Amino acid sequence: MSSTRLTPGLSPVVAILVEHVAVSERRNCVVLGLQWGDEGKGKVIDCLAGTVDAVVRCQGGANAGHTVVVEGMKTVLHLLPSGALHPGATCVIGNGVVVDPLALCEELDDLGAAGEDLARRIKVSDRAHLVLPVHKALDAAIEAHKGDAKVGTTLRGIGPCYAAKVARTGLRCADVQNAERFQEQVRVLVAQANEELAFLGAEPLQVDEVLALIAPAIERLRPMVCDTVAWLHQAQEKGKRLLFEGAQGVMLDIDFGTYPYVTSSNTGVGGVITGSGLSHKAMGEVIGIVKAYTTRVGGGPFPAELHDAVGDGLRQRGGEFGATTGRPRRCGWLDLVVVRHACHLNGVDTIALTKLDVLSGEAEIPVITAYRIDGQETTAMPARSEDLQRVEVVKTVLPGWTQALDDCRNFADLPAAAQDYVRFIEEHIGVRVGYIGVGPGREATISR
Ligand code: IMP
Repeated sequence: MSSTRLTPGLSPVVAILVEHVAVSERRNCVVLGLQWGDEGKGKVIDCLAGTVDAVVRCQGGANAGHTVVVEGMKTVLHLLPSGALHPGATCVIGNGVVVDPLALCEELDDLGAAGEDLARRIKVSDRAHLVLPVHKALDAAIEAHKGDAKVGTTLRGIGPCYAAKVARTGLRCADVQNAERFQEQVRVLVAQANEELAFLGAEPLQVDEVLALIAPAIERLRPMVCDTVAWLHQAQEKGKRLLFEGAQGVMLDIDFGTYPYVTSSNTGVGGVITGSGLSHKAMGEVIGIVKAYTTRVGGGPFPAELHDAVGDGLRQRGGEFGATTGRPRRCGWLDLVVVRHACHLNGVDTIALTKLDVLSGEAEIPVITAYRIDGQETTAMPARSEDLQRVEVVKTVLPGWTQALDDCRNFADLPAAAQDYVRFIEEHIGVRVGYIGVGPGREATISR
């Protein structure tokens, strides 16, 4: 039980209410993408990061791409949490993340003076695995070998690094502390990888070149490495407020996504727990980010996909081009089977609906509410990608609106059809929509 200290001078009931508000304001929060990534987590995190003591990444690596604006300059962060640029926040890269030292240094350098400040606030878990050039070479070789069946990865070495972690052959950040032994470990890793690369018909790597390439980045990484599990537990004890920043989305989860067209980590709350070393009790509010329509990059089934001018229109108006790879994103209507699946898996408390403004001008807006497979209607998510590939979608068509939404700041400012769209989602999923994004800027957000 939590120990509530009542505020002197207030009646017990009022004091408990005041305390409750204070506790919920202090509460940690988890921000997760509930579709296939790129839901607009960066903007929501940016809004929340100013109120927290630390931003924590728990899974994934430099495959993520969050666009942030620093002193008027647009920057894309990959490995660094997007909340890290708030000067007050400590930036924690947890044990579940796979850390590419070269990508980390490149991002810090791209940020200029802000990067120098940030480098002093970063804590990288000693238990986090290292993504090295061998993993990137293997990622490219495996994708090339798969031909048409390729996953369409970001080629950041994510899958091969997690594979090595599970096979117990990986290198961790703690290993950089002993420079001499680390060199030996890299030699063994490269020799093993070269056998695999040869099998895949790819060029081998030269170990001395690899060592020379990574040496400066390893030097810079070394002072950032620490026991982040202990640090996070202490922060909890001191009542610090933590923001756990999810990467990718629930449909890319290695267990619950569209396997094998997924990333190699758990992208939901499970990944936050195992990737930070904190218990479920530390998670606080779970905020699920849902884009008002659906996008995905890379291969794999996507029942809501539009292959026509309407899909092209969403792509253009929504600026749907990958932040990490620049690839055009596949676009479609909102799929509530996906959102319900993601909410069930993660106990989502609040939905943040992003990019509602992009739907302005559509005469009608279909929303997918169920799938039909072999003549049977279902709201369950099929386990097999082949089945998801062949489902027919069951739609409810809602009326659209013509007005631009950029200036709306209150729910009541939205046109009636946009309000009904939001209520339809809430009623269908049974989760409150607490935030609505109506434009790219921080201020273009409605809270309710
Ligand atoms: P990987 O994570 O690079 O192995 O890529 C596996 C799949 O996840 C591919 O379809 C990628 O396009 C997708 N993916 C990985 N990271 C992101 C992301 O941050 N946003 C959207 N898709 C992603």
